Amino acid sequence: MKNIVVFASGSGSNFQAIIDFIENGHIDAQISGLIASRPNIGAIDRAYKYNIPHFVLATDQSGAGLSDILIKKLNEWKPDLIVLAGFLKKIPSEVIEEYRNKIINIHPSLLPKFGGKGFYGINVHKAVIEAGEQESGCTVHYVNEQYDKGDIIKQKKVPVLEGDTPESLAQKVLKEEHKLLPNVIAEILNNN
Ligand code: GRF
Repeated sequence: MKNIVVFASGSGSNFQAIIDFIENGHIDAQISGLIASRPNIGAIDRAYKYNIPHFVLATDQSGAGLSDILIKKLNEWKPDLIVLAGFLKKIPSEVIEEYRNKIINIHPSLLPKFGGKGFYGINVHKAVIEAGEQESGCTVHYVNEQYDKGDIIKQKKVPVLEGDTPESLAQKVLKEEHKLLPNVIAEILNNN
């Protein structure tokens, strides 16, 4: 059985999609831990509900302190794959080095468009609409030292329709994220 560690900063609906995928028997894996970037987020409630160990980072934790604590938890939870599912803190380079090509991220746009610093959450969808794009979507990619710049693994397109708002687009994209992310996880884990 493979181990997955999920990192989250928000409601954790992508975390839930992975939980459901495993519960439905699509991958022989378990989520051995959740790293939450802050307290009182939906993802932590989900970890409690499914008895998944979790660790909450201090909001001001960064630099060497952050990488030490992450590496300690990861050594404990032994991930075959680390999944950033809406995680807003930068992953320290020591962690990326240690888990090279074993960290993936889901981003709510068709990278390389609308990626990088400042492009997170609703900001991404606002920018897509303001730019008059006719399609958007989501991307799963490997994580390297630069924000949203690692190799792209898979994307799913979503049409941007007349009358779409950032909120309606976010909803449509999120629905696709919930399918794309677990499927990519299964492909990676089944090939290793
Ligand atoms: C998703 O749109 C994800 O792509 C982005 O943050 C959002 C997380 O949502 N990086 P959730 O916490 O999984 O519900």
